[in-house]
Amino acid sequence: LRGDQVIVVSNREPYIHEMRDAQVVVDRPASGLVTAVEPIMRACSGTWIAHGSGSADRQVVDRHDRVGLPPGQGDYQLRRIWLTPEQEQGYYYGFANEGLWPLCHVAHVRPVFRATDWERYVEVNQLFADAVVAEARSEDPVVLVQDYHFALLPAMVRKRLPRATILMFWHIPWPNPESFGICPWRDQILEGMLGSTIVGFHTRFHGKNFIETVDRHLEARIEHEHSTVTYGGRPTLVESYPISIEWPTPEETRTWPSPSQCRAETCARLGIPQGHQLVVGVDRFDYTKGILERLNAIERLMEKYPAVRDRFTFVQVAAPTRAALDEYRAFRRRIEETAERINQRFPRAEGAVVRLLATHHGHEAVMRLYRAADVCMVTSLHDGMNLVCKEFVAARDDLRGVLVLSRFAGAAREMPEALIVNPYDVEEVADAVMVGLDMPGAEQRERMANLRSTVRENNVFRWAGRMLTDAARLRLRQRVSER
Ligand code: G6P
Repeated sequence: LRGDQVIVVSNREPYIHEMRDAQVVVDRPASGLVTAVEPIMRACSGTWIAHGSGSADRQVVDRHDRVGLPPGQGDYQLRRIWLTPEQEQGYYYGFANEGLWPLCHVAHVRPVFRATDWERYVEVNQLFADAVVAEARSEDPVVLVQDYHFALLPAMVRKRLPRATILMFWHIPWPNPESFGICPWRDQILEGMLGSTIVGFHTRFHGKNFIETVDRHLEARIEHEHSTVTYGGRPTLVESYPISIEWPTPEETRTWPSPSQCRAETCARLGIPQGHQLVVGVDRFDYTKGILERLNAIERLMEKYPAVRDRFTFVQVAAPTRAALDEYRAFRRRIEETAERINQRFPRAEGAVVRLLATHHGHEAVMRLYRAADVCMVTSLHDGMNLVCKEFVAARDDLRGVLVLSRFAGAAREMPEALIVNPYDVEEVADAVMVGLDMPGAEQRERMANLRSTVRENNVFRWAGRMLTDAARLRLRQRVSER
C-alpha cells in the first residue's frame, strides 16, 4: 500500500480544541479508538475525517476545515465535519449511543430506536461519505472506517468509489443474531457494512456472530472456510484483529517517575496513608464498564476479609462521558451513591476507602496511577477489547502489580496471566482482589513479564499491519481480476 492514500473516518476526533479562560487549549479525548488509531495516522501521514466537537475547533482550521496534527507537528491532516445540534442529537446521542451501543454490548440496558434518530444517522453517514469522496485524490484510496457510528458509510462510499479499498473496524462487541435482530434497521446496517472490503472485529467470536447475523437476515453467500460473505456479487472478508496500544519507547519510559514516587505522590494528593495498598480502576463513566459491580466487590471484600479494611484504598477514575443522556447521568448518580454508602458503612480514621475521581485524567496522570497501583481492576460487563488493561501492563516496567480482568473483555483472550473473573460474580471478584493484594512478588513478576511480552509484541502497529496486509492482498486480487 506504499504511496496509497489512507483516509480514516471516525466520529471522535484525536485532538479537541476548546476555549477556556479566553484561551484555546487542546484536549485528548478518553477513547480507546483514538488511542489506537492516532499512532497509525502519525506513521502514515493520511487524512482523518471526524466530527469537530470542540468549542474552538472552528478557530484553528483552514478554509477547507483542515488542521495539521499533532499540534505543532503536522504529521497528518484532520478534516473536521460540523454537525448541527439536531444531527449530533439524533446520529450520535440517539441512534449510535442509545441504539447501537446497548444493542451490541448486551449490558441489559434496553436499546432505544427512534425513527428520527435513524434519519439523522443516515444523513450524517452520507455527510461523512461525501467528505471521503471529496478528500480522495484517486479513485481507489484506502479508507479506514471506525466504529458503530458509521455502519452505512462503507456502502455509500462504495457506490461513488467502486474501486476503493474499504476497511471497516467495529470497535465494540457484535451480539448474536437474535439480539441484533431486534434493530428495526438491521438489514440496512448489514448491507451498509458489507460495502466494505474487510469488516474487522477484535475477536473471532464477534466476527462469527456477525457472519451468523448476516446469514440469518440477508440473502448472502457465506464461505466459512474463507471467512467471507458475498452479498450483491461483492465479497467481504470478516476477520479478527485484536487492537492494542503503542508500546512506550525507551526515551519515554526514561522520563517516568519511579513506582514508589508515583505511589507517594498519589497518596499525598489524595490524603491516603503512605502504607496503604492501592487498588485502581480507570474508565469512562459508562454502564458497560462494570463500575457498580466493582464497588460491590470492594464492599464484599471488606465484609469477607475484615483484616484488609485498614490496609488498602480503592481509587476509581471515571471520566465523564455522554452526559447528555439520561442513562449515563442516572448511572453516575448510582455510582456516587453506592460509593458514599460503602464509605459510610466502613468509616475509617485514615479516610474513605473508595475515592471516586470523576474528572478527565490525561495520559501522564493515568500512567502515574497505574505505576502506583498494587491491583488494577478492569471489570467490564462486555467490552470489544479494552485498552486500560494493556496500558496498565505497559506502565509496569518494574514487573509489579496485579491485573484483575473481566472474561467479557476481548483482551481476556490474550491476557490469561491476569486474574480472569466474571464481573457479575461479586464473590469471585472480591476473592481475586484479595489474591492480588496478597500475591507474592515473584508471582507478580512472572505474570507481568508474560503479559508485557504479549502486549509489546501484539502492539497497535501489528493490529494495523495485519489489517493493511490483508487489504493489500485483496487489492491486488481485485486488480488482477480487472485485467
Ligand atoms: C468507545 C467507542 C469509541 C468512542 C469511545 C469514547 O471506545 O468504541 O468509538 O470514541 O468509546 O466515547 P465517545 O462517545 O466519547 O467518543
